[in-house]
Amino acid sequence: MLSSITTITALIALSNAHPWVPSGDLPMDLTVTFSAPEMVYSVCDRDFTQSAKNFSVATAGVAVNPGQTANDPTMTITGASPGDMFTILMLDSDAPAPDNDVGGTLKPLLHMLITNITNADPSTGTVVDPYVGPMPPPCQPANTYHYLLLKQTAALSLTFDDLPQYTPNCTLPVFAGKCLFEVTNFISSNQLTTVGYASMVAGADGFVRYTQVNDPVLSWMTEADTCKGIDGYDPCPTLATAPPSSSSDNVKMSIMASAWCLIFSFIFALN
Ligand SMILES: *[C@@H]1O[C@H](CO)[C@@H](O)[C@H](O)[C@H]1NC(C)=O
Ligand SMILES: *[C@@H]1O[C@H](CO)[C@@H](O)[C@H](O)[C@H]1NC(C)=O
Ligand SMILES: *[C@@H]1O[C@H](CO)[C@@H](O)[C@H](O)[C@H]1NC(C)=O
Repeated sequence: MLSSITTITALIALSNAHPWVPSGDLPMDLTVTFSAPEMVYSVCDRDFTQSAKNFSVATAGVAVNPGQTANDPTMTITGASPGDMFTILMLDSDAPAPDNDVGGTLKPLLHMLITNITNADPSTGTVVDPYVGPMPPPCQPANTYHYLLLKQTAALSLTFDDLPQYTPNCTLPVFAGKCLFEVTNFISSNQLTTVGYASMVAGADGFVRYTQVNDPVLSWMTEADTCKGIDGYDPCPTLATAPPSSSSDNVKMSIMASAWCLIFSFIFALN
């Protein structure tokens, strides 16, 4: 009895942490498939080797590497009925920053939004906000990237410029329409129903560190910063257990990594 009460309490606590993450069986499946090339990232005085790999994320909590999920995935939907229209949202629930102003469990950071998907084929949809791969900061616990498959009741005419109405608490201009994304409000305002779910979990890898040091838009990041915690470099700073509320190297890295993600997505959107 006591243990089932404890379990129920734990489950309630868990669902409160991510009120927009569905629980139980869902009627449809979303499969997110990546094709990663073989790569070597030379950074932190060593070579990080990434093997070529084709793999799919179709369940909750699949462990992945940022380097192997950097390229746009292909997606498939199973279990749909003819005429169904879908939206796919991708969200990072672990992008805290000073005062939690980038994304947390209640209001995550938007990584992708596709609407008006028909024929159960995500490539038919309108890309409102293009895919940005994981860029979890070094020296922090892995981040979870959630994919929500949402069934529409009608076509949506959303554009990226409409998104700031779902981020009223987002005060960082570079993240307008993306940070502190009000998922629950977005779902109800657009009359969506969550019908499928998958998620992947990623911590910093050689790709993240290589990108932070070598990408032209990341001139602020030194090898000494991004290589912390690796043999031969400074140890990771001590992590706060609660979401950080004051500025620290870690927090700055988190913001800058996320900022880089955004810049990266603009560069790709322009290409
Ligand atoms: C991944 O799939 C592509 C395309 O089908 C194929 O060319 C490649 O060899 C595959 N890579 C691996 C590691 O299986
Ligand atoms: C959504 O679909 C409707 C109907 O096909 C279309 O008129 C509208 O332009 C689409 N909106 C977007 C943002 O793709
Ligand atoms: C978030 O924004 C809403 C609506 O503008 C406001 O009522 C609320 O106080 C804000 N919350 C925080 C934590 O700033």
